[in-house]
Amino acid sequence: MAAALTPATPLRFKPYSTLRFLSFYSKNPTTPRLFPPLPRRPVDFHSTFHRQRCFCSVISASLQSGEVKKTEFPEKKVGEMGNKVGEFRKKVKIADIKGGHDEGLNRVGQTLVVMGWVRTLRVQSSVTFLEVNDGSSLSNMQCVMNSDAEGYDQVESGLISTGASIWVQGTLVASQGSKQKVELKVEKVVLVGKSDPSYPIQKKRVSREFLRTKAHLRPRTNTFGAVARVRNALAYATHKFFQENGFVWISSPIITASDCEGAGEQFCVTTLIPSSREAADSPVTAIPNTKDGLIDWSQDFFGKPAFLTVSGQLNAETYATALTDVYTFGPTFRAENSNTSRHLAEFWMIEPELAFADLDDDMACATAYLQYVVRHVLDNCKEDMEFFNTWIEKGVIDRMNDVAEKDFVQMTYTDAIELLLEANKKFEFPVKWGCDLQSEHERYITEQAFNGCPEIKAFYMRENDDGKTVAAMDMLVPRVGELIGGSQREERLDYLENRLDELKLSKESYWWYLDLRRYGSVPHAGFGLGFERLVQFATGVENIRDAIPFPRTPGSAEF
Ligand code: 4AD
Ligand code: MG
Repeated sequence: MAAALTPATPLRFKPYSTLRFLSFYSKNPTTPRLFPPLPRRPVDFHSTFHRQRCFCSVISASLQSGEVKKTEFPEKKVGEMGNKVGEFRKKVKIADIKGGHDEGLNRVGQTLVVMGWVRTLRVQSSVTFLEVNDGSSLSNMQCVMNSDAEGYDQVESGLISTGASIWVQGTLVASQGSKQKVELKVEKVVLVGKSDPSYPIQKKRVSREFLRTKAHLRPRTNTFGAVARVRNALAYATHKFFQENGFVWISSPIITASDCEGAGEQFCVTTLIPSSREAADSPVTAIPNTKDGLIDWSQDFFGKPAFLTVSGQLNAETYATALTDVYTFGPTFRAENSNTSRHLAEFWMIEPELAFADLDDDMACATAYLQYVVRHVLDNCKEDMEFFNTWIEKGVIDRMNDVAEKDFVQMTYTDAIELLLEANKKFEFPVKWGCDLQSEHERYITEQAFNGCPEIKAFYMRENDDGKTVAAMDMLVPRVGELIGGSQREERLDYLENRLDELKLSKESYWWYLDLRRYGSVPHAGFGLGFERLVQFATGVENIRDAIPFPRTPGSAEF
């Protein structure tokens, strides 16, 4: 069974989930789908990546006694400037030079300038090889230098070393080496910033754990450069997908007085505790309190307790019930004390909200979105994906292709429980209908059969007709587990009020949310996707701390 179902991407369902199959490729569609299947295109990974730009500028720098006293940016070379964007200088990047179909051969003979950081330096008797990287691609520019090149004395004196930033001008020539088609025959090299010999990222491979302690320098490694570019491509594709489908991007607030998920995992935002400079020597008694000895929130900045948001959903709902289809894409914060490879205290979330939509529309949108961004990365980040496939997770490209091309497996909570009960495996947490799926169950489902963590049934989820379950879904993916959590929202005022009462939540503080149900309420649904989990999924990096530039986790807010 496992073989027949993998590598499809299942949805996780909770006991209270609607007992329906998600069907993106609906077998018997009864309602028109907002997101019809995407046309299938084969992806050829062995063709070269095809980013090409047509901008070029030339920069010259002066060199005096090994140090740059002055860097000039004179007028652009005529004929090399394409579209001019104001006075903005478009540099020729290594990706522009080597990223075309012929990997730079079309530029052979051109005089070019490359600016970047020295990855390696090999001094041989007659010639010196400098590998320079500017972060535009995984590829370095191999710069070949003879002793007659201007500025060569900086190589001899050891000023140009691994980690240094340099400016190199030379002629692009066909390379004799097998690793690259072209290389730069250096005419002039200028040291821009030297690198102290203590530079921690030397050629030898260093562990990702070590690199987390050097988060300010790790983007200069192959892995973190590639992760940053793929993360960027995923963000771009996210906006592209929603914009192309008529969604409006909404900035949901970062500071809020509501707890969307009701899990009590919020960071408090307060000025009752003195500002950062004085905080260290501030006595507890400095916090204002009431006669009853409680904190006097009326004296706080917002006049009541305020928090960093755990989700932009509630605010997104307000705009969805005016603009129909909206999405948020911003940072969210959770004071969850979970030191796992898939939890961060600060993470980015993409939250679409669709009006006049039900759970099926929601799941179709989630599927279409995921397939779109995956395909975008496969098409646009070939070199980086090949790197991940070789060095980080063998098979990541196949896994991604499967997501882009194949149907998703859809199963109800009940089916998932049956599958687990039938599994010939002893789980630490015993399985029975009604239990929350645990990580071991999730992993079994996505990795061996098709994938949880205990969750509270949020107040906003729409109650199903059985009165016991709600219209909610999770999308589970191999390696990561829960990537998406979504639901149809409770649009009926009386149901929502009852639910708030049941959970002892104050109707007064949700007055505006209830108003949406008072004035022109519509069925609506949405989901939240953890952006770092998506980056993990797309790159194969095992730990979520490596999927965001500066991870925030319990006990760690360095950098
Ligand atoms: O399932 P969650 O808690 O759902 C919501 O917040 C809903 N309000 C979303 C909505 O319907 N608009 O979180 C959504 C996703 C999860 O599936 C997971 O991918 C990610 O956010 N996530 C985390 N990612 C990293 N670190 C954490 N601590 C995360 N908690 C949730
Ligand atoms: Mg969830």
